Amino acid sequence: MSPEAPVMQDSLSIELIRRQLSARTVGRQIYLFGEVSSTNAVLRQLAKAGAREGTLVLAESQTAGRGRQGKSWFSPYGVNFYASVLLRPAIGPKEAPVFSFVASLAVADAIRTFGLPAAIKWPNDILVERKKVGGVLAELAVSGDRLDYVILGVGVNLNVEHKALLAALGEAGHAAASLRDLAGRDIDRNAFTASFLNFLDEWLQVFRAQGAEALLRAWRDRDILTGRRVEVREESVTFDGRALGVDAEGHFVVEDSRGRAHQVIAGEVRPLN
Ligand code: BTN
Repeated sequence: MSPEAPVMQDSLSIELIRRQLSARTVGRQIYLFGEVSSTNAVLRQLAKAGAREGTLVLAESQTAGRGRQGKSWFSPYGVNFYASVLLRPAIGPKEAPVFSFVASLAVADAIRTFGLPAAIKWPNDILVERKKVGGVLAELAVSGDRLDYVILGVGVNLNVEHKALLAALGEAGHAAASLRDLAGRDIDRNAFTASFLNFLDEWLQVFRAQGAEALLRAWRDRDILTGRRVEVREESVTFDGRALGVDAEGHFVVEDSRGRAHQVIAGEVRPLN
């Protein structure tokens, strides 16, 4: 923690997290900062300097938190969860999309331990009662046809006040919420962090033992889009269709009005009903 960070009752604490940690790999090295630009950016530097698999960067706030599709991620101090985990899986870049599902599965499981029904919207948005409460920004470093490392950046709105979300996000704030709003009580951030890390470790073990198909099965169980009418926005194209679900590569497949199946790789898919 940086010395200028104010002491708060509910501050993140490596000691409190460790007490609740059963994970073997994830979190074996933890860095905790008061303020960073982005936990992903900090971890990228550590990864380049040779940091080990499982290294975790946590922060109380981010000044340049990033979301998917170049969006920014609202990261106020001392209320939420901003974390990045370094993984060095022995997979090729093509397997990375399915691999990144370990993060949303772990977030959804951690949220469920707080009594809330978490679901996933492709690729890795976390929703509770249709409100977005968290998301994952996966970054890959590739050397030739080899995956050097993966950074899984995870943000979850734990205790941020709804009025702060509305002030920061404008209209989009109506589609977002914090777990505190939904649970009606404060969320213990150290307990949430440990729970997320423990589930992430478990899902990584599932992946190692059973492969991508096991992740896909679990992910499909929590998916809210399949079978629904959706709107797809990709770079310059927008179309409506019916969501057929995620394929074996982790891409989302949508059938357009002419019955043609489109594989969505990097776009945004949103339900129309
Ligand atoms: C999204 O839904 O768009 C993904 C949001 C990911 C935000 C997290 S917060 C921790 C990590 N650091 C970042 O800059 N982004 C991710």
